[in-house]
Amino acid sequence: MPLLHRIVRQNEVPLHFVLNGKPCEGRRGDTLLSAILTVDDMLRPSDFTQEPRAGFCQMSACQDCWVTLESGERVRACSTPLAEGMKVITGAGERA
Ligand code: FES
Repeated sequence: MPLLHRIVRQNEVPLHFVLNGKPCEGRRGDTLLSAILTVDDMLRPSDFTQEPRAGFCQMSACQDCWVTLESGERVRACSTPLAEGMKVITGAGERA
């Protein structure tokens, strides 16, 4: 079950992305973090306790939300706009 439920911009233009190999849909104006958390229950497991993490500061300061793009580039999910066709790997993907 997703951690977040979209209550605004439900009719905004859909953007398709792939999360850990799974086709997903977000909305124009989403950050990667908001798009991911509307389709999954966490961003990644904690490096130390394996407890679920979902970002912390939401303002590009804590570095809790690093994800990897298909290109190999690491980006902060909370400050990266979702774009059509993005392929994203999270820590959760590394468990698969
Ligand atoms: S949630 Fe803190 S940097 Fe992204």
